[in-house]
Amino acid sequence: MAAKRRSTLLSLLFICSSCISLLLFSALRTSTRTSISITDRWGEGVLCNYSDGAWVPDPTAGIPRYDGSSCKEIFKGWNCISAGKSNGRDLLRWRWKPASCDLPPFDPLRFLHQFRNTNIGFVGDSLNRNMFVSLVCTLKSVSKEVKKWRPVKADRGFTFLEYNLTVAYHRTNLLVRYGRWSACASGGPLESLGYKQGYRVDVDIPDGTWVDAPGFHDILIFNTGHWWWAPSKFDPVESPMLFFEQGMPLLPPLPPEHGLDRALRHMISYVEKKTGTSAIKFFRTQSPRHFEGGDWDQGGSCWRMQPLLPEQVEELFSLENNGTNVEARLVNQHLFKALKHSSFHILDVTHMSEYRADAHPSVAGGKKHEDCMHWCLPGITDSWNDLLVAHLKSM
Ligand SMILES: *[C@@H]1O[C@H](CO)[C@@H](O)[C@H](O)[C@H]1NC(C)=O
Ligand SMILES: *[C@@H]1O[C@H](CO)[C@@H](O)[C@H](O)[C@H]1NC(C)=O
Ligand SMILES: *[C@@H]1O[C@H](CO)[C@@H](O)[C@H](O)[C@H]1NC(C)=O
Repeated sequence: MAAKRRSTLLSLLFICSSCISLLLFSALRTSTRTSISITDRWGEGVLCNYSDGAWVPDPTAGIPRYDGSSCKEIFKGWNCISAGKSNGRDLLRWRWKPASCDLPPFDPLRFLHQFRNTNIGFVGDSLNRNMFVSLVCTLKSVSKEVKKWRPVKADRGFTFLEYNLTVAYHRTNLLVRYGRWSACASGGPLESLGYKQGYRVDVDIPDGTWVDAPGFHDILIFNTGHWWWAPSKFDPVESPMLFFEQGMPLLPPLPPEHGLDRALRHMISYVEKKTGTSAIKFFRTQSPRHFEGGDWDQGGSCWRMQPLLPEQVEELFSLENNGTNVEARLVNQHLFKALKHSSFHILDVTHMSEYRADAHPSVAGGKKHEDCMHWCLPGITDSWNDLLVAHLKSM
């Protein structure tokens, strides 16, 4: 029963996709892109660390930037205002204020003009879908004429016809291909180690859902993370991840976090080979969860009505405390290492999001378990898109 509920929730939680990128890097680019938090040029050559800041009350910010009831892309469980979450509107009354610059809401009309004839692809898990939906709904609020379609095997996509701007979402959990594996009667190296069943994860093969995305999109935003820390699906005993490379099992078997390193390395170089030099590639850092009082399947909840204080953030997320949501910063360590010598830009949303224990659907998600992983829409993935646009502007 527990296992079944878990897998049901997991499949609901992760409606998803994803990938990585490039080859020609200059020493200068590398050095600016590898810092742990993103530091970009802003205005007159002033450097801004967007991760260093605070959520400040903003009385003017309470107006949703799109109407959750008319933007059909919003998954019901994420539409906190319609679902009657008590702070569904209040959670919008905060603005992320970086210490040394501003992060204004982007102007959707200007965005549409600026990115005419451009294809933008989100590749990753349901948290990237959450960000994709925020962008689509924001743009739809000013330009309603859209064509809905699925470019290069995307899960969903829209072209804003007046501007010939396409935004698509490619669903992938691990970036790499995986599927069920079971022991072969004739035996083999994994069988001889006693493995009976599990998941075969090919660390060097991109998931088919996005394999052609790097050749199609001009701007790509990748993510992966939650699924690598999902023992309820990839149970280390009942259904372990079994990693393969060049069609052969990796021996001795790797733990998931080392499989992640391999997969990232291969996918980053795949994307770098497949994209033109003009393509802009982002890797988004891990989205934090806010389960308190237990994990999602142990009655954990997120009942807070206000952003956390800095000391509460450290208590919940510091690696030393090894708390329920510890994977947020752990995943990032793997990402930063893998992206170090790549041409990817890092879109660091982790720290700003760590404060927002108040911004998940919680019971309004409408599931048996509280949803303290995805984000209410409208909500803070709107700010992630502001950050994306700020980075694009600074290039
Ligand atoms: C940016 O700010 C974050 C959060 O305060 C900090 O951890 C990080 O070290 C800063 N990055 C740089 C390059 O100063
Ligand atoms: C629309 O944009 C794509 C590139 O994203 C381009 O190939 C195509 O020619 C454009 N169509 C028109 C009608 O301009
Ligand atoms: C962190 O906690 C989990 C259980 O909650 C435990 O299995 C794991 O060994 C701990 N890790 C460290 C590094 O203490």
